[in-house]
Formats: sequence, C-alpha cells, structure tokens
Amino acid sequence: MCGIAGIAAREEYYDDVLKELIRLLESLEYRGYDSAGIAVYDVDSKKIRVWKKKGKVADLVKLLRSQLGDFKLKASVGIAHTRWATHGEPKDENAHPHIDCEGKVAVVHNGIISNYKELKRELEARGHSFRSETDTEVFAHLFEEELKRKEPFEAFKAAVARLEGYYAIVAITSLEPHKVFFARKESPLVVGRGPKGNYVSSDVVSLVGNCWEVSPLYDDDVGWMNDKEIYVERGGVRRRLSFIKPTWSPVQAQKGSYEYFMLKEIHEQPQVVKETLISIASEWDKVEEVVNLLEGWAVVVAAGTSYHAGLIFSYNVMKETGRYIPVIDASEAPHFSKLLKGTVVAISQSGETYDTLKAVRIAKENGAKVVGVVNVVGSTLDREADVSLYTRAGPEIGVAATKTFLTQLSVLNALVARMVGEGANRVREMANELSKITKESIEVSAGYAKGLADQLYTKRDMYVLGTGISYPVAMEGALKIKEISYVHAEAYPAGEAKHGPIALAEPGFPVLLVWTPEDVEKLEVAEKEFESRGSEVYWVAPRGDVPIPEVDWKYVPFALTPPLQLLSYYMAVKKGLDPDKPRNLAKSVTVH
Ligand code: F6R
Repeated sequence: MCGIAGIAAREEYYDDVLKELIRLLESLEYRGYDSAGIAVYDVDSKKIRVWKKKGKVADLVKLLRSQLGDFKLKASVGIAHTRWATHGEPKDENAHPHIDCEGKVAVVHNGIISNYKELKRELEARGHSFRSETDTEVFAHLFEEELKRKEPFEAFKAAVARLEGYYAIVAITSLEPHKVFFARKESPLVVGRGPKGNYVSSDVVSLVGNCWEVSPLYDDDVGWMNDKEIYVERGGVRRRLSFIKPTWSPVQAQKGSYEYFMLKEIHEQPQVVKETLISIASEWDKVEEVVNLLEGWAVVVAAGTSYHAGLIFSYNVMKETGRYIPVIDASEAPHFSKLLKGTVVAISQSGETYDTLKAVRIAKENGAKVVGVVNVVGSTLDREADVSLYTRAGPEIGVAATKTFLTQLSVLNALVARMVGEGANRVREMANELSKITKESIEVSAGYAKGLADQLYTKRDMYVLGTGISYPVAMEGALKIKEISYVHAEAYPAGEAKHGPIALAEPGFPVLLVWTPEDVEKLEVAEKEFESRGSEVYWVAPRGDVPIPEVDWKYVPFALTPPLQLLSYYMAVKKGLDPDKPRNLAKSVTVH
C-alpha cells in the first residue's frame, strides 16, 4: 500500500539523485500504481522541486523527460512516492509528494492519518490553504507551522506527535537541505547505507543493490539522515541501529529473460520449494518448538493467498492427525478475538499485512504465543512473532502471490511431517520430491494452460470446483484468475454446486474441475451435472484438458497450483493486461 523512499546523497552523486529515486520507485511500484511523484532539493535553484502524476512510474518518467530532457539536475536530497489511493481519487493533485503553502516542505506518506479532518480544520483556521483531498497534506502544513517556532528536527517531531492513525512519513525541508526526516508507526520503513549516500524506503527489496547494509525501523521511531549519518530516536532517547546485509541479491529482483515477474516467479517455484524445505530442515529445533506449541489450542490467521495456505495446512493436519486447527480470515479476526489464544500461527509473505498484524496483536494481548510464517526477514510480523519460520521464496515482485504460496505450503508441510513423527531427513527428501512434482507440473501443463487461456479469456464468469484438498487449491486458483485476468471466478466444493451455484449453468458457461485422487467420483458427478446443461467443463487433472502429474493426495497442491497460476497469467496476457500490476491491488496491504 503505497511505497515511499528518500535519499540523502553524497555530493559527488548529486547528479544521480533523480535517477536513484526513479529506480527506487520502479522497485516499489508493486505497492501501488495509481500515481507517482518525486520531490528533490535542487542545489542550483536552492528550491524544492516537485513532479507528480496520476498513473504509473513510467508516466512520471515521461513527465520528467519532457521537462528535464536528460535528467540533468543536482539534488542533495529527494523523496519519492508511488500511490495506492485511500483518501482522494487517483489524480495529479492527490499524488504525493505534498507541499506546504510556501513550498519549503515536501512530504510523502504511507498509512492513514485518522485525525486529518480535525487537523485540517485547525490549519485552515490558521490560514493554510489545501490543494488536495488527501490526509497526507495536513502533515506538510503541520510541519510548516512548527517550523515557524522550532529547528527542523524538533518541528518534524512536534508535527508527528500531532498525528493519530498509522504512518510511515518521509519529508524534506529547504531550511535544512541536506537532511531527510522520517517517522514510523505501524507502516513499514527501512533505512540503508550505500556508496551513494543514505536511504530510507518502505521495503528492503528496493534497497538491495544500492545499500551495503539495512536496518528496519520500529514503531514510534523518528529520525533524520544526511549523507553521513542516520539518527533515530524513540521516546526522546537515541536508539542505536543494528544493520544487516540484505540477503536477497539484486538479480533476484530482476525479470531476466521473462516478460513478466509473475511468469518468472511461477518458474522459480521448483527451486524455492526445495530451498525452503532444506532451510526448514536445518532449523529443526524451531520446528520442534512450534509443533510443541501446536499441541494445545491453536488457530491460524492469514489473508488472501496466505489464508488459502492456512486452509490447506488445516486440512492436512486434520487428515494426518485427526485434530482440527481453525483458520480465521485475518480481516475477520477481531470478531473472533476470543479464539485468538493458545498458539496463533500467522501466515504472511510480506509480514506487513495490517489485518494479520492486528490479529497478532489481539492474540498477544490475550497472552497467546505467535508463530510467524513469513518471507520477509525483519518485517513487522517477524519481529512481533515469538518464533518465525521463514519461507525462502526470495523477493516476490509480481503483485499476485505465486511462489510465496508454495513455499508457505512447504513450511507448513514440514510441520505436519513433524506432527506425525517424521524428522528433518524426511523433510530433506520431501525437498526433492516436492520440487520435482512442481517442476514436472509446470513442464506438462504450461502449453495446455496457455491453450485453455485462449478459450477462456473472453468469458465473464466461471466456476473452479474442487473437493478435499483440491477445494482450497481451487479457491487459490479462482483468486488468481479474478485478480490477474479480471474474469469472475468462484470456487466451490464440487458437491456444493448442486445446492445453488448450478443455477448459472448454461451453454458456454465454463467450469474448471480441479483433481484430487481422494474423491474423483464427486468431480465426475459435477461434470455430468454441468455438461447436461450445456456448460463447458475442463479438467485440470492427470491426462486432463490441462494435464498434471499423478500424485498422492498430500502433494496435490504442488501439482495443481502451477497450471492454475499459468492459466490466470495467460488469460491476462491474452487480454493485454499487465499481470504484474493488477488494477486496484497492492502487494502488501498495510491499511485496514
Ligand atoms: C493474492 C495476494 C493477496 C495476499 C494477501 C496477504 O495474490 O497476493 O491476497 O496473499 O494480501 O498478503 P501477505 O501474505 O503479505 O500477508
């Protein structure tokens, strides 16, 4: 949800600041792409200059090119923003950065300032005039107001202290043109040190490649950086930062020879499944600890694709041990607060999803232990969990979750293996087996998934039916089809279709049956029911319309998921859509 960044450059790199900001924006664009903007302190004109535009980063780049030609501009500091609209529709005026009345301050923000209406009224009464409908603009004016009486950092802190809600804020002022100010509360923010200067950004991925080392910021941190120093305090006391080297490499965050990140990430699955299982086997003491914690009352909380991973885990645990672990949709978790006790397993690739973190915080207030299954080391969930189990998917840039899903299932399968008494060596064997199934699935299904996409991309609606373990996989497939190709796909248990959904069956209505060896008959019954009403029925199954390897029921998600992801991908591409950046979505949903 919105990506923000800032840089305080060393003098010899002043020429590069604009390009660096564009690069940061390109890697943050997955967090929102309704509009984008940049503000820098131009050392020649001694002024803050702002460019912002509705649309993608590429539209902003066009604007910059039209005004600056070869980007020749010397800037000491700069900030940037890519927006996922919350307050105010996507348009140029609502794009960040926002400035104060006199143009002395520029601000970018991710989050929601819940008391912005009161603050706006107060500031208007003091003569401030507003240009946008956003909550963020109040901060620019608050900062301006405080600057009348205080030094810049004191003024910035005083302005932050007036805010309610949650935020990551980065600001510059022409009154101190070598410093970037920042503050964090419940929205991610990371600082980094690199050869060209110091950086601040919404995520680590964007800093990989330009920083030697990075350090996450914590809630209520407020600070500043120039090209030499990064200063952070909390509650008025200086906080020493501990820096880590980013483990992800810049190459992982590039498309390589693939047309889109989504396709690259689908193809990375055999490798990352293997790496995740090998890594989890090497941390077996953590697996033991988590399985001990799961012996008492336990629930899973997660959103979206991670929620589907939770459903598959719960099903596996039930089948293998007879125990039931409920899975609660994170956005609904506050209604189920009484169940958030014992051990709460929070699954989140980003580790920053607001709803999931909210559930974790309720659980902690209830005295529960929290287990995080997370892809981003150092993310908020990682830090707040009592134990974190890491998925080793590497950076996932495509907005739709693909490889993180199968790596979540890998970690969760390792837990189930331990629950039934298996050891780390068995999990090492599984690393090869599951990787092989995933690879084979991609190889045998890709061409057919593309062919089916050619037939389905013009449809408006479709069903994806499964049973047993293939039902939650069908839910994940339907989510991918909806979000990437904008075809309304709904998942149902195959036997449920006759209780209502079949009313839509008519000639031409597409139904996808997703296989599991547990109960093929149930799927065949649904096939007959739909076919007899003229529907087009397609099987994702061994020897089906989209073939997959024939596997044991436990491994069905690894065989079924790639063709469903590929189907959604090819449907989107056929429609001329950008599968990496589906409309209205953002990679990490840090608002509620
Ligand atoms: C779907 C998708 C979302 C996320 C959901 C949770 O493709 O990406 O549904 O799965 O927003 O995100 P995380 O796992 O980061 O908590």
